[in-house]
Amino acid sequence: MTSVDELATTVGSAIDDALTTVRGTAKAFADRYPDDTTRGNQYPVRPADTTHAEGANRGWTTSFPAGMDWLAWELTGDDALLQAGLRHLHDFDRRVHEGDDLETHDLGFLYTLACVTPWRLLAPAAEAGDAEAARTLAAAREAALLAADHLMGRLLEPAGIIQAWGDLTDPAQRGRTIIDSLMNMPLLTWAGQQTGEPRYADAVRRHTAQLREHILRADDSTFHTFYWDTETGEALRGGTEQGAFDDSCWARGQAWGVYGFTLNHEATGDVHLLDAARRCADYFLDHLPADGVPFWDLAYGDGSDEPRDSSAAAIAVCGLHELARVEPDPERAARYAAEGVRILRGLMAGYTPTAEGVASDALLLHSVYDAPKGNGVDEGSLWGDYFYLEALVRHARPDWERYW
Ligand code: GLY
Repeated sequence: MTSVDELATTVGSAIDDALTTVRGTAKAFADRYPDDTTRGNQYPVRPADTTHAEGANRGWTTSFPAGMDWLAWELTGDDALLQAGLRHLHDFDRRVHEGDDLETHDLGFLYTLACVTPWRLLAPAAEAGDAEAARTLAAAREAALLAADHLMGRLLEPAGIIQAWGDLTDPAQRGRTIIDSLMNMPLLTWAGQQTGEPRYADAVRRHTAQLREHILRADDSTFHTFYWDTETGEALRGGTEQGAFDDSCWARGQAWGVYGFTLNHEATGDVHLLDAARRCADYFLDHLPADGVPFWDLAYGDGSDEPRDSSAAAIAVCGLHELARVEPDPERAARYAAEGVRILRGLMAGYTPTAEGVASDALLLHSVYDAPKGNGVDEGSLWGDYFYLEALVRHARPDWERYW
């Protein structure tokens, strides 16, 4: 067997395992949402809070089950997965119309997967005259545009950055953005394409330029978070929330940088963003342990007993795959593609329930949500699962069209 055939077989079998789990989760949770991460390798139902019942659609990770349903539907055409994806779409439509838990930049993660993705995938049925698909499409488009407008409401002048977390008047959060926000920009890019209004693309261009200039450090590592003065627009200081130290490099943040700078380079055509993506990728690759799956902070390397973050690896595989597609230098492109495959092999060989012989409803074990707060450490995570499945699909289906 050639190594290409061997990779195809391994990816095919990993996809089969993943599909079994995604189908099971869609059925088991139905209208309810799992929590952000597993506990003892099983997803509990999302807990209630003061304003939401148990299992309600709140927080930043509830679109990842939807994204997995859509990926799995594309792979199988299974009607149960289509219905699961549509149930999510209807609840996200409700969420944005009711103004329910929208005070976050993560509207991009949420509405890209839950609404823009079905809007794209159902277009052929609507164009072929399916009236139900056309109605669904219109609702998805309206909900996603509404979410994009909420996100635009977080653009702070004169800094030209989109505030990440919390109420805009909260002094602890005011003027702060984070590297993850790069992945929220595709919702604005899409809204600009839909409406023809330049304000969305302007926001993307300004926010990403600020991140490139300040959140990316001179040594090509990244801060997790960065503050701007909201009166003057002056760039103030970097820091961390989920990394080990203010001046260390949180592994998932660096992975968001690889994927996010690449996507925003594609959206804006700005070559400086391509350069930023390369710098993030080179630093990430230079700080991997032997099996290609990073520790939760890149300050740690082989020999450390800190936990790994498999979700950072899965995000990086997707980012490297995308970067290799747009990289004009053939040598660099080949390196990014090969390194992405190496990391994916590491995940398939050592970080899945099948590889470990562990019973779990996660696709990927050993991710870390927030180590400093002891939250979701060495567990499965909804985003780790989603990006692992996206990584598998990217390698199984070279013609797959990305959701971001
Ligand atoms: N976007 C939040 C995280 O990566 O934990």
